[in-house]
Amino acid sequence: MASRRQTARMGLALTFLWTRLIVFSFAELQRFEHSPKDDGSLSFLVIGDWGRRGLFNQSRVALQMGKIGQKLDTDFVISTGDNFYDDGLKGLDDPAFEESFTKIYTAKSLQKQWYSVLGNHDYRGDALAQLHPFLRKIDTRWLCLRSFILDAEIAEFFFLDTSPFVDAYFIDKEHTYDWRGVTPRKAFLHNLLKDLESALRGSTATWKIVVGHHAIRSAGYHGDTEELIQKVLPILEANNVDFYMNGHDHCLEKITGHGSRIQFLTSGAGSKAWRGDTTPYEPYDKDGLEFFYDGQGFMSVQLTKNDANLAFYNVFGKALHTWRVSKELHSAV
Ligand SMILES: *[C@@H]1O[C@H](CO)[C@@H](O)[C@H](O)[C@H]1NC(C)=O
Repeated sequence: MASRRQTARMGLALTFLWTRLIVFSFAELQRFEHSPKDDGSLSFLVIGDWGRRGLFNQSRVALQMGKIGQKLDTDFVISTGDNFYDDGLKGLDDPAFEESFTKIYTAKSLQKQWYSVLGNHDYRGDALAQLHPFLRKIDTRWLCLRSFILDAEIAEFFFLDTSPFVDAYFIDKEHTYDWRGVTPRKAFLHNLLKDLESALRGSTATWKIVVGHHAIRSAGYHGDTEELIQKVLPILEANNVDFYMNGHDHCLEKITGHGSRIQFLTSGAGSKAWRGDTTPYEPYDKDGLEFFYDGQGFMSVQLTKNDANLAFYNVFGKALHTWRVSKELHSAV
């Protein structure tokens, strides 16, 4: 029989192991750092749903991103997913990587780090290829992970892999999805939500921004994503998130309200657009829809300690909609 001291020691060891396990399972989101400008401010572009070998206005959008990027001296670019059409990358040697990314976003101002998530179309190919460090050897700008955190001091970004949340893909008989690393799904989502919640709770950044492929709120073709409204939105609301940025719907769109202080911003117009079938969804009647554009374009964001200045642009580089969010106003609400 074990002595009392031995039992105590065993107990201690078990507690230690247990804590380690808990700590481990809560700390799975990889963290990256990006220094802001010397004055603490930060600016970046957001684009989604783009990789089509320059066609369908992808190159025109890229050209204008280069110009606006130059003007705003942007620090990096965010991609909201559906990086390569139609079915993601076929593998590490798929020429689409260079044909739709490296050779398209050639402007000097776009030679910055890109932070990308996967979209549902990316999951139809070799999803692991896009996440593989080998691509960074071909083009050092590329960084795509499932879910991760980017700490840019003034702002903290929480990139969230939203495709595994969507039930429809798991019963889709028309397409196959590369769910390697995502199954068992229930445990995967459970851990992801825990990691997201603890990361958001621990964040002390002035601006908290969550990026995913699927919209939480959208008046576009795909509309709201119910699974995200149920599982993700309450976590964002409880932790004072400022912006949720997504693609998936091929439009530029801003939704506020719905009893939430979060602004829901869609930038999924990197090449696909003009679907023209948003009418049945009566986009302009949707609660809190402040802006909707069914054409190609992108978004810019400039952050200081007090203000966020945002804008949507079309293929001509024309600012279609600009707005400011002030921290003082926010905290007073
Ligand atoms: C490209 O953009 C122009 C101007 O917005 C638009 O008229 C045209 O239909 C677009 N082309 C495609 C293929 O979407």
